[in-house]
Amino acid sequence: MHWWQTGVIYQVYPRSFQDTNGDGVGDLAGIAARLPYLAELGVDAIWLSPVFPSPMADFGYDISDYTGIDPLFGTLADFDTLVARAHALGLKVILDFVPNHTSNRHPWFVESRVSRQSARRDWYIWRNGAPDGGPPNNWLSEFGGSAWEYDAASDQYYYHAFLREQPDLNWRNPAVRAAMHEVMRFWLRRGADGFRVDVIWHLMKDEAFRDNPPNPDYRDGDPAYKSLLPFYSTDQRQVHDVIRELRAVTDEFSDRVLIGEIYLPVEKLAAYYGANLDGAHLPFNFSLIETPWRADAVASLIERYEGSLPAGAWPNWVLGNHDRPRLASRVGPEQARVAAMLLLTLRGTPTLYYGDEIGMTQVPIRPERVCDPWGLNVPGQGRDGCRTPMPWNASRHAGFSSAEPWLPLAADSAVSNTESAAADPDSLLTLYRRLIALRRARPALTHGTYRPVAQSGTVLAFERVVDGEALLVALNFGAEKANNVVLPNIYRGTVLLSSSPGRDGEATAGHLTLRADEGLIILRDS
Ligand code: GLC
Repeated sequence: MHWWQTGVIYQVYPRSFQDTNGDGVGDLAGIAARLPYLAELGVDAIWLSPVFPSPMADFGYDISDYTGIDPLFGTLADFDTLVARAHALGLKVILDFVPNHTSNRHPWFVESRVSRQSARRDWYIWRNGAPDGGPPNNWLSEFGGSAWEYDAASDQYYYHAFLREQPDLNWRNPAVRAAMHEVMRFWLRRGADGFRVDVIWHLMKDEAFRDNPPNPDYRDGDPAYKSLLPFYSTDQRQVHDVIRELRAVTDEFSDRVLIGEIYLPVEKLAAYYGANLDGAHLPFNFSLIETPWRADAVASLIERYEGSLPAGAWPNWVLGNHDRPRLASRVGPEQARVAAMLLLTLRGTPTLYYGDEIGMTQVPIRPERVCDPWGLNVPGQGRDGCRTPMPWNASRHAGFSSAEPWLPLAADSAVSNTESAAADPDSLLTLYRRLIALRRARPALTHGTYRPVAQSGTVLAFERVVDGEALLVALNFGAEKANNVVLPNIYRGTVLLSSSPGRDGEATAGHLTLRADEGLIILRDS
């Protein structure tokens, strides 16, 4: 099996992990310094949100040079050091590849915009306005407003699925593809172990640029972007040809991974593995983030997902990232323990978001400190609250920086930080460490089959089985005790790991009682 199948991925948001040069923003040297913490946590790979030169209109997701490091984060030499240190600790390094759009200050776009005759005109998506004036079609930006920006000098519009500072590249142009393939090779040669590809399902758009249809489920108060179904602007059949090429470049190097960011229903993820499993190794599965936190809803989601995977495709699960409210705020601090057990026992590769292992919550951001452009465009949509600095200890600025951090620290950082959590045998961090260690030690958890066992009321129970080893995972999604959970296939077993204190080693037989908000992993007697 490959490392990206058996391993656990950990997402680092570089701005907020560890600052070493006292500017209040995290950097590569900081990440390198904190690698021992990650090795001790037990993860296998880190994925870094973008660290490339950028005007930071969208905090690095607007790249102006694909083969450099932004001075805010350090230098190429710092990157090389980080990779060398990570590899020495057995950690892989996954980069964020943002091929859908560049910064509007990227030299390619600057040249493209000069005139209709520019040699790079066709590197971006330029269209004439509609015959009766206005933008070429009704497509909307995910971050608010029309997705078309008028350029008076050439009397044409360019397309941007996100900010106007993020013009979309034209992936129908072979020169664009070739240039981006070279970018991938640049980092793969330098030792990157693969990529998480930003908004991969956006890469191709309808050739005829037809209007998107209205969304019949749109409700007042939803963001305007949701008023249309992005039928012609995303998830086009031809995107799979583009992804197959990205995969082929990845495969020029040994043992690298291609992960795709895709916000689509689980049934639609199947196609992103590629018709012959020659697409993304891991099309990110965000469905747990979007599903109501109830045992029945999660059970049916797992069934739908498992049922839709193509033969040979490897599953994956995600509970948080830099675009979504913090896990512990969504499900509550008690259920965050159950969520950790679920994520680390489901079949497939788990991706953790930095700080979720210590139960970081959404940090309230005062209006004058809002940084996220989405939050500035559409009040209430801001993502700053899940991107706040990692609290390491009780010192000033929580050990994150010697200066005031770019976003506020959580108010409880002095008491709730990695140092205090590491010292507490019952902390969420300790639970994460034990779960990851157990996952590594038990083949049933890394590559066993998944079998649903029971779902009733607030309880979900499933089995992971391999070569005679059977583990039962029983999770109580409720805040009340669950009595007398009947386990038809587990007659006798022993609790290997409990999310609440005092039950490890307990013998079980046929029936179970789960405490409120409790999860158990039980080894079936052979
Ligand atoms: C992805 C990123 C998000 C970014 C957007 C545009 O969804 O995760 O942070 O704003 O793409 O690049």
